[in-house]
Amino acid sequence: MASIGKDISLAARLLGEGRLVAIPTETVYGLAANALNEVAVLGIFKAKNRPKFDPLIVHVASAEHVNNLVKSIPDQLEKLMIDLWPGPLTLLFDKKEIVPDLVTSGLSRVAVRMPRHPITQQLLQELSFPLAAPSANPFGYVSPTDASHVEAQLGDKIDYILDGGPADIGIESTIIGMENDLITVYRFGGTPVEKLEEYGEVSIAPNLSSNPQAPGMLKSHYAPGKPLMVGDLDELTERHHGKKYGIISFCKKYEGVDHQITLSQDGHLDEAARNIFGALRKMDVEDIEVVFAELLPEEGLGRAINDRLRRASVR
Ligand code: TXA
Ligand code: MG
Repeated sequence: MASIGKDISLAARLLGEGRLVAIPTETVYGLAANALNEVAVLGIFKAKNRPKFDPLIVHVASAEHVNNLVKSIPDQLEKLMIDLWPGPLTLLFDKKEIVPDLVTSGLSRVAVRMPRHPITQQLLQELSFPLAAPSANPFGYVSPTDASHVEAQLGDKIDYILDGGPADIGIESTIIGMENDLITVYRFGGTPVEKLEEYGEVSIAPNLSSNPQAPGMLKSHYAPGKPLMVGDLDELTERHHGKKYGIISFCKKYEGVDHQITLSQDGHLDEAARNIFGALRKMDVEDIEVVFAELLPEEGLGRAINDRLRRASVR
């Protein structure tokens, strides 16, 4: 079983030896390895049981490090890097040869992000290489937002879990790249589209969930174990009267329902984002047959939360 701790030097040493370490980020926990060491990266795919057609995000200590990995940085993306890094924003650039094809699943672009969590920032500064890190969950399951989530699911497959406390944002980074001179969103995430729109016209990649540009965005990507139905909660509970169900609501409390989680009593989307994956995990272990969830306002972080709920509900 991997030990959990706050020992950044130990994490750095293990990663230097090509081993796997779970790292805290402000979005979700990542499962990290030396991005330039193909054998180490292969270990990530094995531990997660992740298909090799699903490319990994490379995490860097600072914007300057991106130059080592990519051929060029488009002006618009550079501006976003300066303003929004470190933070929940991943950018796609044409990769240099130094980035193993295994990391990008053979695609010509590499996904890069500079995380904001202080522990992982310090770790990256101590390393002489960037870190490839997908979310630290078995493939297809919801992302971990706490060290205990990682331990429960991957503890026996990795070498160390660097504990940075509960994730600040709670959903994965927004993924963007340039397409036909437009900022194009490939995954909704911790950086709201409204924020990106301050930098110019933004296009949303068609079929976000099955886009060959982003092969990992399979529809059922966030599926929890229990069936999840998304819709109007009054209607769902009435239609499935007699079933053992759990409810995930945005801010409303339901009288007389045994298993329910309210994401944010005061209706704050950032609080809801912090709680959503934990809520899905919790419902998974409750004595219920099905989970009902309602969609949130389609704005700000609500878009990313709704995206995860919709994907989780497809089976
Ligand atoms: O917040 C996050 O982004 C977290 C933390 C750990 O940084 N990471 C994360 O990684 O969510 P992962 O692997 O669970 O999701 C990354 C997604 C994948 O589904 C993949 O399809 C897409 O990013 N991706 C990675 N590299 C890509 C590339 N070169 N082109 C298109 N999509 C890419
Ligand atoms: Mg993931």
